[in-house]
Amino acid sequence: MNLKDFIYNIPKAELHLHLEGSLEPDLKLKLSKKNNIDIGQTTIEEVKKSYEFNDLTSFLAVYYPAMNVLQDESDFYNLAIEYLKKAKENNVKYVELFFDPQAHTSRNIPFETVINGYYKAVSEASNYGIKANLIMCFLRDMSAESALEHYNMAKPYRDKILGIGLDSDERDNPPLKFEKVFALAKEDGYHITMHCDIDQKNSINHIEDCLYKIKVERIDHGTNIVENEELVEFAIKNKIGFTCCPVSNSFVTSDMKGKEIKYLLDKGALVTVNSDDPAYFQSYISNDLYELAKKMDLDKEDIVKLVKNSFNIAWISDEEKENYLKQVDKFVEENK
Ligand code: HPA
Ligand code: ZN
Repeated sequence: MNLKDFIYNIPKAELHLHLEGSLEPDLKLKLSKKNNIDIGQTTIEEVKKSYEFNDLTSFLAVYYPAMNVLQDESDFYNLAIEYLKKAKENNVKYVELFFDPQAHTSRNIPFETVINGYYKAVSEASNYGIKANLIMCFLRDMSAESALEHYNMAKPYRDKILGIGLDSDERDNPPLKFEKVFALAKEDGYHITMHCDIDQKNSINHIEDCLYKIKVERIDHGTNIVENEELVEFAIKNKIGFTCCPVSNSFVTSDMKGKEIKYLLDKGALVTVNSDDPAYFQSYISNDLYELAKKMDLDKEDIVKLVKNSFNIAWISDEEKENYLKQVDKFVEENK
């Protein structure tokens, strides 16, 4: 089997996927019509033309206003279902989905509308041959008080949320701003992860604080860790996962950070490949893996390592991990 088909067909886990970032232009236009919301664009070409970004801040400036089209429970449900369909096409078997409640409550959409819509889709994921879980993210450019308020709002839905994350604009919004709410989340048995976006001001300090102080289980992006060998060793020893997103990186920074991903992979760090915001970067997980493979001359062995890392750092039981890893081995055996 050629490398491209191998990449597209191998069973995968996706661990860095923002549901709001999977809002494709056609659904955006459909919902803007349905909900009578003027987004300033009426054709797919116009929507795509509006995708003008070259860093995290300019990306987020396009990303948040588009969410206006999400109004009722069915909109959130349909958004997540559309992603699950794409995930199935990409042979994703397990997915952890980020969602940003504050991006919706700040526009007067009730928390329960968001979680009920998303969770309904999650509970139907098996129709697509997928198991899915939700990770609730706080927007780091909002206050620590707001994060805590939303943490409390989520309490009645504890069994529907697997983990807590942190995203949005990292500039001047360090991990320690959210130390308290993440300590609470840990105490309450949530899994925890934080974005450390690429080439941010103080990236390496943020990574250090995530690892040593907040004690996250994973870092989303986080390849700037290569700047400090001691931290790399710590991450390897403590089995910290890195959810890298090469195509996303190439949109918001100067390149896909392939060298860093390959270096970490070869050293034994648990790096993985994911799509981040596939509708905006026009790349789902298989394409992310394929673009990285082309750029870095990866072979099948590298791909298998990346895919296995994803199942290994997924927040699932050991038994489930073994089961998925066996599926990967079977695929490799049959498609050498
Ligand atoms: N970084 C920060 N915020 C985000 C991202 C990301 O990769 N995607 C969606 N919101
Ligand atoms: Zn992200």
